[in-house]
Amino acid sequence: MADGIVSLVMAAGKGTRMASDRPKVLHEIAGEPILGFVLAQLDDLRSRGILARAISIVGHGADEVRAYLSDSWPWTEAVEQAPQLGTGHAVMQAAPALTGFSGDVLIVNGDVPLLEASLIEALVDEHKARGARLTFLTCNHPRPHGLGRILRDGAGRVRAIVEHRDATPEQRDIREINVGVYLAHWPTLWDALGTIGTANDQGEYYLTDAIAKLVSGGHAIATVTTEDYVALGGINTRAELVATAAEWRVRRGAYWLSRQVTVEDPATAFIGPRVTIGPDTVVEPFVQLYGHSQVGSQCVIGSHTRLVDSLVGDSAIVRSSDIVSCEIGDRTTVGPFARLRDHAVVGRDARIGNFVELKKVNFGDGAKAAHLTYLGDAEVGDKANIGCGTVTCNYDGERKHRTTIGAGAFIGTNNTLVAPVEIGQDAYTGAGSTITEDVPAGALALGRAHQVVKEGWVARRRAMRAADKQRSEA
Ligand code: UD1
Ligand code: CA
Repeated sequence: MADGIVSLVMAAGKGTRMASDRPKVLHEIAGEPILGFVLAQLDDLRSRGILARAISIVGHGADEVRAYLSDSWPWTEAVEQAPQLGTGHAVMQAAPALTGFSGDVLIVNGDVPLLEASLIEALVDEHKARGARLTFLTCNHPRPHGLGRILRDGAGRVRAIVEHRDATPEQRDIREINVGVYLAHWPTLWDALGTIGTANDQGEYYLTDAIAKLVSGGHAIATVTTEDYVALGGINTRAELVATAAEWRVRRGAYWLSRQVTVEDPATAFIGPRVTIGPDTVVEPFVQLYGHSQVGSQCVIGSHTRLVDSLVGDSAIVRSSDIVSCEIGDRTTVGPFARLRDHAVVGRDARIGNFVELKKVNFGDGAKAAHLTYLGDAEVGDKANIGCGTVTCNYDGERKHRTTIGAGAFIGTNNTLVAPVEIGQDAYTGAGSTITEDVPAGALALGRAHQVVKEGWVARRRAMRAADKQRSEA
């Protein structure tokens, strides 16, 4: 592991062509910043012992990018590039983090979300087989406009990479482009970076110029060439962002289909790169599965469901619901039209029905809230039944208070539970009750006005009205 590969992820650029206040690498595909797609592949390589570390080079919007990295990719590191003087300059910023390192660095542009770990492995294999000092990825692209072109000599050996804006018309006819993924012996690359300048159209330190330096230094250089231009063009504009997102959906759909998951319509299934799904689960059209959501086996995730950072057990059914940072147990059904948020934890064999909102709730095994209910800051015991129209009054305008409902309790229809309040095990509350005081276990609480019946009231009123009318006409 001593000289495991260290990856440098290039994420400092402004992304001028996105015309956005948000750093380019934080623009999202399927709910995940595009930077996360690259990191997901690196994570895979790390889990297989191929990669030792990943260092993101951050700069534009550094605080936001760092916040995302520490939230979602805590094993990675970040170094700052300020100001941002080009891709070569970006790599130079990693030097302090690589003091004494004499292995290979894997440099990856942060804007190629469809790059797959298998391609990086091919690069590693070629690098080793050739005993190269630098091996990089190229791609034959039908529309190479804007990208760096690969210049080769008559024998097919790489001579240099020329950026589109610095290229002659003849060079612009070259279809072979630089993908922006490089594996290089760090001490050798570091020496070459020390010799590059900024004599180009953008006045930047180009990483690609270091390659020409390695050529003239006589170092062994290898390439791996792919035809997958759809995946590897890099994202520079919003049009490329949405086109790449569409491609991601199709490819990720195929990925899950080959892993025993039925994605009914990959074109409309938005599934992020960190999401896991168990076998025999069905993902219906127009579903959003985001963040580190994990769905078990044999579930149905119904149309128009959004799941963010949430866990769903096995054999659960979720229909048309919005679920953020929550857990749903095995065989539980949710929705249609439920909203679960802020660490609502729903047990097994439970039922959350239509127009039910749960916030910070522990909802017991086999418990039910079938319709039109708000439960916030509550404990609901196993097999409790929450009647239609139940509302926990958890907020007094200043503070939040808890409601505790015991196992097997039965909350009648249209109850108002004024927290803090506790309803004991197996207790009942009558329909229409406003419950302001604790209810002991096994008791019935009625918190409503007594009904008054006035026999014959309608006939008496009609008689009074008729008499009034006669008087006014007389
Ligand atoms: C770069 C390559 C080009 C290649 C293309 C592939 C260079 C000079 N050119 O061009 O050969 O065909 O990628 O998509 O490398 N970045 C920094 N700091 C900087 C500048 C950029 O971290 O100072 C990062 C960006 O955030 C981005 C990556 O480096 O993730 C590439 O930068 P970008 O400006 O998109 O380079 P391209 O012009 O696309
Ligand atoms: Ca780019």
